[in-house]
Amino acid sequence: MSGKTFALDWEARFKAERTPWERPSLHPAFTTWRASGALAPCRIMLPGAGRSAEPRALAQDGFDVTIVDAAATAVAVQQARFQSFSLPGRIEAADLLEWTADAPFDAVYDQTCLCALPPPVWPSYVAQLHRWLRPGGRLFLLLMQTGKPDGPPFDCPPDEMRTLFGAAWQWPDTLIAAVPHWDGKEEIPVVLTRL
Ligand SMILES: C[S@@+](CC[C@H](N)C(=O)[O-])C[C@H]1O[C@@H](n2cnc3c(N)ncnc32)[C@H](O)[C@@H]1O
Repeated sequence: MSGKTFALDWEARFKAERTPWERPSLHPAFTTWRASGALAPCRIMLPGAGRSAEPRALAQDGFDVTIVDAAATAVAVQQARFQSFSLPGRIEAADLLEWTADAPFDAVYDQTCLCALPPPVWPSYVAQLHRWLRPGGRLFLLLMQTGKPDGPPFDCPPDEMRTLFGAAWQWPDTLIAAVPHWDGKEEIPVVLTRL
């Protein structure tokens, strides 16, 4: 299954307003990272940002924001939002598994993008994340925990993720507590450094 084929399904979900993953406000892990300074103004990319509010918050805080999403509806919403607030930013409609960056990023913020992709393409997606980030760049990632074999969202157990990401990424010594999602799932926030 190509990323493109899979992403078409996401467009159908936006069109039908079947978007249970969407949060009414900024993600609590995002606000914690911002408040602590872990996430500080830089050149940042948001893969599969959908219609989320975090890209606008980052742009308003002076980040150099790039969004890549394959769903036309999500891209149009983000473009209109950035335009209405006169915010700079690159918002591109593309398949993440094929998209290439014109220059490396300092950070990537992945909010329910990895878990939206089918596990067979995860190695390709992780390779893309590695290509997009500069050495020492950081991946702000929310590991979806569902405890179920099916998806989306697909379960991202930390041990399996350590194996998936491999030696090219540095993990923190300890993981912080999971953040509940209103639909009963939870996400473990983690910041990985691209080696
Ligand atoms: C679960 S939604 C998350 C949206 C957003 N991050 C949020 O938290 O509201 C997954 C997003 O990834 C996008 N997506 C899925 N597969 C993709 C692919 N192969 N290429 C680009 N975008 C993709 C979908 O269009 C959708 O916007």
